[in-house]
Amino acid sequence: MGRTREFLDDQVCVVTGATTGIGREVARELALMRATVVLGCRDATRGQEALRDIVEDSCNDRVMLLPLDLASQASIRTFAAKLQEKFRQVHVLINNAAVWMAERLESPDGVELTWATNVLGPFLLTNLLIEKLKESAPARVINVASTLARGLDLEDPEFRRRPFDGMAAYAQSKQALRMLTWGWDARYEGSRVTFHAVHPGIVNTELLRHSKGFLGAVARPLFRMLGRTPAQGADTIVWLASADENERTSGNFWIDRKIKKCPYRDLAAIDRLWALCSEGTRS
Ligand SMILES: NC(=O)c1ccc[n+]([C@@H]2O[C@H](COP(=O)([O-])OP(=O)(O)OC[C@H]3O[C@@H](n4cnc5c(N)ncnc54)[C@H](OP(=O)(O)O)[C@@H]3O)[C@@H](O)[C@H]2O)c1
Repeated sequence: MGRTREFLDDQVCVVTGATTGIGREVARELALMRATVVLGCRDATRGQEALRDIVEDSCNDRVMLLPLDLASQASIRTFAAKLQEKFRQVHVLINNAAVWMAERLESPDGVELTWATNVLGPFLLTNLLIEKLKESAPARVINVASTLARGLDLEDPEFRRRPFDGMAAYAQSKQALRMLTWGWDARYEGSRVTFHAVHPGIVNTELLRHSKGFLGAVARPLFRMLGRTPAQGADTIVWLASADENERTSGNFWIDRKIKKCPYRDLAAIDRLWALCSEGTRS
């Protein structure tokens, strides 16, 4: 295994959804490694609390909070513009924020909330930052995916025709995020921007906060008892963001710092998904 950089003083890292859970621990670790860290958070109070905690813990004052609601394309555009304004370079983008919904709700743009937050959000944000990442290369995009990934319905990704199922919506969003990772990898081959998808393990976080019924009653307590800590869940993500060798490998699905096979590599399906996301994020 290659060398892991101990310090990231020269690196600007962006973490979406850093108020709690895995994202907060990823941001903390990167701050401890002395990176400049931007926390992209939708809730100002929770964001400020995370910021205070991370700055205090890391003694790194180059950690900052920028408002970002990944379910709102206007918010994503403002966030990306502010990042470009504030930083000459961006080296690491960690698409971490996600939701698991219990009912079908829509984003401010009228898109089913899981699809908006977990798929269109990272698609738009990454594409808005891609030129900056290329200028800053070697650079990395790390997509926090999951082994719970299946059932992508490209005909009805927003559950307009089928009854809403929160787990199905989440699982298809995580399949889509892996497919987009392979799409970026193919499009930007040779750019020295590398793209990684990662499963953090089963982690005791707030992810199931909206879940009701069986999931709420059984899965949530199980997550609490058996899940990894958020810091353990952050490990492979931080490693992907910092180890030298990950400047060279791209287009892989990672679990516990090891490459795993991913079945979702059908190029025609990836192109269809890409077209759908482009259409869904047109300004
Ligand atoms: N936990 C697991 O077992 C597990 C397993 C596999 C994959 N994952 C993945 O790991 C990632 C992190 O999840 P987690 O388990 O740490 O969940 P979590 O504790 O629920 O944290 C999710 C984070 O995303 C943020 N977020 C949600 N919607 C947002 C939006 N519209 N705009 C901006 N931020 C938003 C939340 O912010 P607020 O504080 O404002 O809600 C929070 O900071 C997700 O991609 C998840 O799918 C988790």
